[in-house]
Amino acid sequence: MTALRPLIAGNWKMNGLELSLDEARAVAAAVEARPPAARVAICPPATLVHRLAEALGGTGVEVGGQDCRAESSGAFTGDVSAEMLTDAGASLVILGHSERRAGYGETDALVAAKAGAAHRAALEPIVCVGETRAEREAGRTLDIVTGQVRGSLPEVLGGKPFAVAYEPVWAIGTGLTPTSEQIEEVHMAIREVLTAMFGDHGARVPILYGGSVKPSNAGEILRLRDVGGALVGGASLKAADFLGIIEAA
Ligand code: PGA
Repeated sequence: MTALRPLIAGNWKMNGLELSLDEARAVAAAVEARPPAARVAICPPATLVHRLAEALGGTGVEVGGQDCRAESSGAFTGDVSAEMLTDAGASLVILGHSERRAGYGETDALVAAKAGAAHRAALEPIVCVGETRAEREAGRTLDIVTGQVRGSLPEVLGGKPFAVAYEPVWAIGTGLTPTSEQIEEVHMAIREVLTAMFGDHGARVPILYGGSVKPSNAGEILRLRDVGGALVGGASLKAADFLGIIEAA
């Protein structure tokens, strides 16, 4: 079973003004000059999706959103729908990031509804899962993560492009990363669930690792079993750092 092409996605979170487009342009120029083994995507704040899509059009670097509403339109002040992201030029969307699960009470069922919306709008969802430090210390990591995978991926994704990102909450933005054995253990457990849910397709979809990925640890992480790319926060904000990770793939 050949794995699908790895994906290196940058999550800018709530960072980025017009000036930041230059960093993205520098990434795209390097990717065009030396096409990497991995697909590359940048997920800027919603305000920059359209401008980034215009700036990167035709370069091979894809643009994604960081969240979407499950409904396609309506009286939801402040929210953005999957259709709006597609309309603005995005081709992917991060869903169920731990900052949204923790900060906005997003449940697996809501994330699954959003993933269904992404599919409806022809967006490729990157669905995030991951345990907290307390859950890891209580020995509940595999239960938590596999439960999130089962609950957050709607059946409609069968055969469709999507990715899962394993992001231990305690590793996000902290400089801490799990050991190689810990990453492989969780990725293999996720793979088992994906294969049970989606058959051959589930055996091939990329499972990204996220949480304090940087140029100095990317090579080791990206070579681990069942790691099909990375979701990169802080280190995606500067072209030089992000390129260091892209080149390690
Ligand atoms: P980090 O964030 O790379 O800054 O740890 C990763 C993420 O939250 O997606």
